[in-house]
Amino acid sequence: MEKTFFIAPSILSADFTCLRDQIQIAAENGADWIHVDVMDGHFVPNLTMGPFIVEACRRITTLPLDVHLMIESPEQHLEAFLQAGADHLLVHVEACAHVHRTLQTIRELGGKAGIALNPGTPAAAVQAVLHLVDIVLVMTVNPGFSGQAFLPEVLPKITELRGMLDAAGAQAMIEVDGGIDAETLPLARNAGAQVFVAASAVFKHPGGIASGLKALRDGLDRK
Ligand code: DX5
Ligand code: ZN
Repeated sequence: MEKTFFIAPSILSADFTCLRDQIQIAAENGADWIHVDVMDGHFVPNLTMGPFIVEACRRITTLPLDVHLMIESPEQHLEAFLQAGADHLLVHVEACAHVHRTLQTIRELGGKAGIALNPGTPAAAVQAVLHLVDIVLVMTVNPGFSGQAFLPEVLPKITELRGMLDAAGAQAMIEVDGGIDAETLPLARNAGAQVFVAASAVFKHPGGIASGLKALRDGLDRK
């Protein structure tokens, strides 16, 4: 049977002195995708990684690399990230002057395209491009840092987007990102999400990466 739900550990909270081990442990313990958080210090107030790290991840794992571009003018960097080995490129609707063209370009270059929305951005902002995406990434924190608290007021937007996708006959998956742990995951799942990004709940879990992933999978089984 095809998998319905996917867990995407974000390496933002990984120990970069041993990134290979950390990704391998995640892969052996049920990670479905590896989420890479790219930040430019402009769109969000933090600076993180670029294509170079994506390339390193590509050499470490065969899992899909889910690359979240929290950068201004992402259209200037699509090719570099895809060449580095990204499978999914997620761009923010707030950061794109020509979001329709940018999503088309990702697909033309062979990537899976995702559109991301900040907590303050309404679902209607992405209505016109739902037919161009494979993933809708609903931020459940304001992007920029790991370890922030889940914003429950975003839950109705997940349900609204699910309804918009179904009404449009669009196949895109809904991914949630920010403050996801064993308690908040079922709330997002019940609202209509299928993909769950987690940095702290995996890489900073007190019991280690395997325990963190197990707790999230147990969360999936919870009502
Ligand atoms: C936030 C990033 C998230 C972040 C999640 O700006 O997009 O992917 O790593 O971190 P946690 O799971 O700790 O909230
Ligand atoms: Zn992210």
